Amino acid sequence: KQSLRLGVAGLGTVGSAVVRMVARRADALAAAGGRDVRIVAVSSRDKGRDRGLDLTSVTWFDDPVALAASSEIDCVVELIGGAEGPARATVEAAIAAGKHVVTANKALLAKHGAALAAAAEAKGVSLAYEASVAGGIPVIKALREGLTGNAVSRIYGIMNGTCNYILSRMEREGLTFEACLKDAQALGYAEADPTFDVEGFDTAHKLAILTSLAFGVEIDAEGVSVEGISAIQPLDLTMAEELGYRIKLLGVAQVAAGGIEQRVHPTMVPKSSAIAQVMGVTNAVTIDADAVGELTLIGPGAGGEATASAVVSDITDLAAGMQRPTFGRPSTALSPSQRVAMQRH
Ligand code: HSE
Repeated sequence: KQSLRLGVAGLGTVGSAVVRMVARRADALAAAGGRDVRIVAVSSRDKGRDRGLDLTSVTWFDDPVALAASSEIDCVVELIGGAEGPARATVEAAIAAGKHVVTANKALLAKHGAALAAAAEAKGVSLAYEASVAGGIPVIKALREGLTGNAVSRIYGIMNGTCNYILSRMEREGLTFEACLKDAQALGYAEADPTFDVEGFDTAHKLAILTSLAFGVEIDAEGVSVEGISAIQPLDLTMAEELGYRIKLLGVAQVAAGGIEQRVHPTMVPKSSAIAQVMGVTNAVTIDADAVGELTLIGPGAGGEATASAVVSDITDLAAGMQRPTFGRPSTALSPSQRVAMQRH
């Protein structure tokens, strides 16, 4: 069988980790996907930077859109980030050229996911995004593949590692919000613009993606009510603790009378609850579904290796020839009238 030829657009923390992982796990990927997986092209803004990667036999592109259109590749791995600009142009160009796309870009999907999914389906290519939600946790797979026999009534959790890291350290070490945010940035967890993390937008993007999958409705990130954590003071955490609570930034989507309610806000959770035990950059996603009951997935929500793990899982599915509708899911807890209400939201 012919190799699956990848072009990686963006060589930041995640892109570099993907390049290393594909090399390190070459034999395992070939076994899982039934054919070799090779990175044949990369693009990056900063060609000169030493990332400790062996890129000797790889074609360099300065322009990710040119990489996306290159006849050398079958699949574009978009790890540039951002809802507009080069990330969007690269994904659009890849789909237009009939290439599969693997992306970690939740902002892009939250804003343009419906149109991109329609374009991908029209071209018969995959738009895969396991890495876009909750880093290394295979939550997209769980929803899309593992729970097809279930109607989902609620999905909620900690979906931003930066916020959970900040809240955990503020609580445990009494540090200020600003000091913790700086550390999260230095560790490579935070978004390029950390406002997305701390004001709750990143959680909202991820929640909107999960909502779409879990309930079979169009992505509606604008419909999420959002409040972040930037106003939380160490004193708030101490007071919560005295009352037996921790403060967590939660994203919640649930079936409500008029459709799906989606919200993101700091929430007091009892210290004895499972979600209160989730500290640091870890994420946790709970799915309430009729057949399995309550299912919670806990794991690393950010960081190069964990996010690369999710990217590589999508790559392996593509190598194995697995293609699924981008956001479609057959079964939900929504009645037809609730579904219509949601789509008109
Ligand atoms: N900035 C994000 C987070 C990265 O902190 O969770 C993973 O999406």
